[in-house]
Amino acid sequence: SNDVFLQNISSDEYFPVPFEELEEAAKQKIDASAFGYIQSGAGGEETLRKNNTSFSKYSIVPTFLKDVSKLDTSITLFGRTYPYPLLLAPVGMLKLADEAADIAVAKAAAAHQIPFIQSTVSSYSIEEITAATGDSPKWFQLYWSNHRETAFNMVKRAEKAGYEAIVLTIDTFSLGWRETDLKNRFSPLMQGFGKANYETDDVFLASLPNQQPESVIQGIKDNINHPSLNWDDIRELKKRTTLPVLLKGILHPEDALQATRHGVDGIIISNHGGRQLDGVISSIDALPEIAAIIDGKIPVLLDSGIRRGSDVVKAIALGADAVLLGRPFVYSLAVGGETGVRNYLANFKQDVQASTTLSGAATMQDLRDLTITRT
Ligand code: FNR
Repeated sequence: SNDVFLQNISSDEYFPVPFEELEEAAKQKIDASAFGYIQSGAGGEETLRKNNTSFSKYSIVPTFLKDVSKLDTSITLFGRTYPYPLLLAPVGMLKLADEAADIAVAKAAAAHQIPFIQSTVSSYSIEEITAATGDSPKWFQLYWSNHRETAFNMVKRAEKAGYEAIVLTIDTFSLGWRETDLKNRFSPLMQGFGKANYETDDVFLASLPNQQPESVIQGIKDNINHPSLNWDDIRELKKRTTLPVLLKGILHPEDALQATRHGVDGIIISNHGGRQLDGVISSIDALPEIAAIIDGKIPVLLDSGIRRGSDVVKAIALGADAVLLGRPFVYSLAVGGETGVRNYLANFKQDVQASTTLSGAATMQDLRDLTITRT
């Protein structure tokens, strides 16, 4: 990776490397309300802040002199091997960042063989994204619906298109209290973003054509809000699909245990990037206990606050199998479209490679055995 580092610093082309610089560049590029929607967290943003500061509580204690020249950062999930322990988190409304939205991001992910997780509220449909990217690895994130068939219909379409897993997000049965959006009087749903996967007979889309706030609000109430979601629904979803089902938004060890009891195939520890309930635990703090309880039975993934290669090292050392990147790729999309996301991923994977070897690890299994102290 030194070669790449030297190549980068001797090149005229520069894409923002520090996360903070990337965020600032995105802020300059897009509409202030759209940026606010992407950047902000729920409530007083205590959890959003914690997502970043919590990583600092854990320190890597590296070991040396072990010959880490044969680096292998690959991981295997559900029978498929990927070159890095990275996936792209599901992010809706990507047209807020760039017109090419999900298409641009999915193509950039494909170029690096990184799985792309498409959001239910994406800006392009399952079929449009498939047409643009072929058989590159793709998973589908599901938001449940009060009209169950709307949800199951999307699952069927994802299966048909060759998607490889279903990620059911369990922490968003109603929207978090997002003060920045309230201040900006901003809702991307109101603007009609994020409806690409809904078909005309779905209640949500049916309410949208005239864009009247009252009818959109009714559509959201009918379709996006589903507070009755419970473990019986998980059982039903498992029956309705042949694909592995992951639950995204797990923070409590008890829920992790329940997931294994209900035949769930994987979990994603996440607080939705601090966008749902403010004051909840950071993912990295929730990880050790959950990893202990899962004890290798199913894959444990994690997101919320992954910004640098050392964050990935810490997450894997504390028991995660892989991590999901969120806001950084959205900012990259805003700054440089598809090329921006490709550049960002190229830089990030090199950071992961450097951080892995400098910890004294040559494989992801070595990272699992790494010493981490909590201060
Ligand atoms: C999200 N996230 C999200 N999650 C999900 O399951 N479905 C979705 O449609 C969205 N949409 C979405 C939009 C925007 C603008 C953001 C920033 C996030 C949450 C996402 O998958 C992930 O959990 C967080 O982004 C992780 O936090 P960081 O690392 O981005 O801060």
